[in-house]
Amino acid sequence: MKRIVSILGLGSGAAALLALALMASGLPTPSTASADDQAAAKLFQDKKCNRCHTVKVAGIAKMEAEGEDKEVDLEEKKKVEPPDLSGVGVKRDADYLTQWMQRRVANDDGRKHKKKFTGKDDELATLVSWMVTLKSPQEPAAPAAPAEEKK
Ligand code: HEC
Repeated sequence: MKRIVSILGLGSGAAALLALALMASGLPTPSTASADDQAAAKLFQDKKCNRCHTVKVAGIAKMEAEGEDKEVDLEEKKKVEPPDLSGVGVKRDADYLTQWMQRRVANDDGRKHKKKFTGKDDELATLVSWMVTLKSPQEPAAPAAPAEEKK
């Protein structure tokens, strides 16, 4: 009897390991994003880029403001609307984005980025190499044909 129990014990242990291995293999992921993309998307949020930016194509929404004061403050100071970055890779390359994040380059309107990137170089590289892959068409600024159904 003891022997059977120990065999059973081993069996369920192995089954648990198998289950873990399956989970670790990333089978049930919610999106089709690669591990690199997911790491970059997480970094984007860790660095609080989504305090200002959304990345709709990656399912990144704006961070909740931490208090009402902050929300009001942000709203009042905001002069330039931070863009959604779903299509930033269409017009920007890695060189530009790296310098942009370091505030070493200005855009066509003569403005530099709000925030100078203060993280590590490899973190910046991770973010930049992810951002150049974001090439979803930007949403049209104005609603298109009135016939278009919105749900
Ligand atoms: C305090 C708000 C704020 C935060 C935080 C912020 N940004 Fe921005 N970002 C802006 C604004 C505003 C613009 C638009 C600048 C302009 O047009 O003058 C912008 C522009 C950009 C652009 C340029 C897009 C383009 O089309 O050229 C990129 C790329 C970008 N941000 C990436 C990031 C990343 C990555 C982070 C996090 C490390 C971040 N931003 C954090 C406000 C912010």
